[in-house]
Amino acid sequence: MSNKTMTLTDNVSGDSWDLPVLDGSTGPSVVDVRKLYAETGHFTYDPGFTSTGSCESKITYIDGDAGILMHRGYRIEELAENSDFMEVCYLLLHGELPTADEKTGFETAITYHTMVHEQLNYLYRGFRRDAHPMAVMVGVVGALSAFYHDSTDINDPHQRMVASHRLIAKMPTIAAWAYKYSVGQPFMYPRNDLSYAENFLQMTFGVPAEPYKPNPVLSKAMDRIFILHADHEQNASTSTVRIAGSSGANPFACIAAGIASLWGPAHGGANEAVLNMLQQIGHKDRIPEFVRRAKDKDDPFRLMGFGHRVYKNYDPRAKVMQKSCHEVLGELGLDDPLLELAVELERIALEDDYFVDKKLFPNVDFYSGIILKAMGFPTSMFTVLFALARTVGWVAQWKEMIEDPSQRISRPRQLYTGETERAYVPIDKR
Ligand code: CMC
Repeated sequence: MSNKTMTLTDNVSGDSWDLPVLDGSTGPSVVDVRKLYAETGHFTYDPGFTSTGSCESKITYIDGDAGILMHRGYRIEELAENSDFMEVCYLLLHGELPTADEKTGFETAITYHTMVHEQLNYLYRGFRRDAHPMAVMVGVVGALSAFYHDSTDINDPHQRMVASHRLIAKMPTIAAWAYKYSVGQPFMYPRNDLSYAENFLQMTFGVPAEPYKPNPVLSKAMDRIFILHADHEQNASTSTVRIAGSSGANPFACIAAGIASLWGPAHGGANEAVLNMLQQIGHKDRIPEFVRRAKDKDDPFRLMGFGHRVYKNYDPRAKVMQKSCHEVLGELGLDDPLLELAVELERIALEDDYFVDKKLFPNVDFYSGIILKAMGFPTSMFTVLFALARTVGWVAQWKEMIEDPSQRISRPRQLYTGETERAYVPIDKR
């Protein structure tokens, strides 16, 4: 650790304090304010956490100005090109790329946990058929802690690992069943002879009446989409998982909390919102009208799939996604006018001063919906796929937190601006 400090001076009393400055392996250093309240009687104030590092982590690094995303030191573009999702899961969880033996062992461990307790079948039946699949996901994943009591002791490293494997393994089954339930088709059981992505597609699009033949182009695209969504540092849902877990809650409950947070349109729900927006725009001629609305402060409309809290440059995931989008549509021989519309919208927005000045670029969600639509997913499933892929990131971050000896319950403070103490007024005197 360096001896760097930053001095904080109270201009009224003249008191000053030296605050330690901690360096990461790369990226901005942080001012350590852990003792600030005890020493100065002040809190820091940072709603939205724009300048707050909430934890120490070795998993994911983002340089938002340069548009760089790395997991455990490997660039996302390289992982998307050369790796597969199982390998990326291993990397996120264990810190290193697996050897061939380690990879086989990991795949076996995941494969053996893909089935869910049969009683979960009946849980689905309690939902309305027209329920949003994300609502079903929050409920079913939260309920896993009622089924897997032997992996909820967070203080047991073995149980932590079993819970991690179970969550990664069962999420495709749970997600596919959320879809099957909504379309009134029978649930398909996992097939352990298929890869992770193939198996998910089989459970989603297969039917018991016919053998399912995986399409290698779609399976590869699905796998790549999973890689691109696997982790993303301390975003809203990951921070939710960490905060939920900081109280000692079991991992299934924590991941359900993450799914709830992901659902919002400012976060994972944006992929669904992008497609709805493109459909609403409908034709290239109407793009200027929507761009104008996005710039109007009195209009709540925003260009969905544009802008990011951290990236002030092109989101590297969006670049890979755009390329994949063209590949998948090409392979399937589809000519989706929404892709043409998206490309044109991107072109116009990137030349517009408003978007240029505010450094608003396409994010991962801008093109993902078009690929998912081409693959046959309804828009309501888009965020479910994000949740499925992000589960490994949530789990890795949750494990890292539990294994960090300096971990304490997350308990932020506030700037109170309400009434100060006043006398109670009886109801007949109000
Ligand atoms: N369209 C129009 N204006 C925008 C947009 C947009 N998509 N995004 C940001 N702005 C403007 C915003 O109005 C603000 O202007 P001003 O400074 O004049 O008030 C400025 O840019 C900064 O925006 P912000 O809301 O303060 O930034 P934030 O970091 O709080 O929000 C965001 C980031 C992603 C929520 C936001 O850019 C947004 O709502 N984008 C659309 C939704 C979206 O695509 N979300 C997916 C994010 S990537 C996947 C994920 O992580 O889940």
